Amino acid sequence: MDHMNAVTFTEVTKSYGDVRAVDGLTLDLRPGETVALLGPNGAGKSTTLDLLLGLGRPDSGTVRVFGTSPREAITAGRVGAMLQSGGLMGEVTVRELVRLACDLHPRPRRVGDVLAHAGIGQIADRKVDKLSGGQEQRVRFALATAGANDLILLDEPTTGMDVTARQAFWATMREQADQGRAVLFATHYLEEADAIADRVLVLHRGRLLADGTAAEIKARAGARKVAFDLAEIDAALAGRLRELPFLTALDISGHSVRLQSADADATVHALYGLGVYPHNLEVAGLGLEQAFVAITEAEEARTR
Ligand SMILES: Nc1ncnc2c1ncn2[C@@H]1O[C@H](COP(=O)(O)OP(=O)(O)O)[C@@H](O)[C@H]1O
Ligand SMILES: [Mg+2]
Repeated sequence: MDHMNAVTFTEVTKSYGDVRAVDGLTLDLRPGETVALLGPNGAGKSTTLDLLLGLGRPDSGTVRVFGTSPREAITAGRVGAMLQSGGLMGEVTVRELVRLACDLHPRPRRVGDVLAHAGIGQIADRKVDKLSGGQEQRVRFALATAGANDLILLDEPTTGMDVTARQAFWATMREQADQGRAVLFATHYLEEADAIADRVLVLHRGRLLADGTAAEIKARAGARKVAFDLAEIDAALAGRLRELPFLTALDISGHSVRLQSADADATVHALYGLGVYPHNLEVAGLGLEQAFVAITEAEEARTR
């Protein structure tokens, strides 16, 4: 049922001139889920989040947030957002800015709690225009969590943070998610999607290419890599290796063979069937990064 979802997109399309930023997007987010919107620059991540905030209207299709329009959900104080762009007021202190956000929120949290949970208690008396990039991102996060929101939208929230700040940030975010809030974050960092999200939506040119757990996406991408060495590889053997079942990639270099397979068990079984003796056999899963490349390349090939 629609109102059970935190977010529902149905066949949503949004173009800027002749660029289809979002192209027939259908998806749903359930309450309490932490979901990564993963895609390269220009994939349509920010446009998707803007539509969720009612900052743009779809050309066609519908966007619902907790069963209502984005505007209604925001007015009801159910949505908090941390956007990619947009300056912060500079002449005020961090505490003053956070207090303002709390004052404006229909379901405010306590200023002290917001500061503490965003890890900016120490810099609360500092002027906003004196902050480092990473601190500024934390203040943005505080503004996104000034109220008891049921949905938090984060557009590439860790941009400009170093590794330590990034880890601290995700720990803070995790606490918000553990309190039952749905979190949708855009990222082009595969490690972030892999480590943080319950579910990953792979977006490419405005289209949803994959929707599942990081593990499912890795499996779907065709999957596993196999490496081994052979004592001798002549032209005839190379030809037979190329015909192994379920191959999605093959690279022969000297004595060593590296391949990717959609069904590594079947490929390895057939390999032994060739009457060869593979040395140093290794079978491993693809990382999310390789899976992502495989999925987007397959899509490029399909639409070329
Ligand atoms: N306001 C705009 N005017 C024109 N084109 C835009 C505008 N916003 C986004 N686009 C284009 O739409 C596509 C998707 O952009 P965006 O949603 O910002 O992607 P992402 O956030 O994944 O990098 C890109 O090709 C981008 O150039
Ligand atoms: Mg963006």
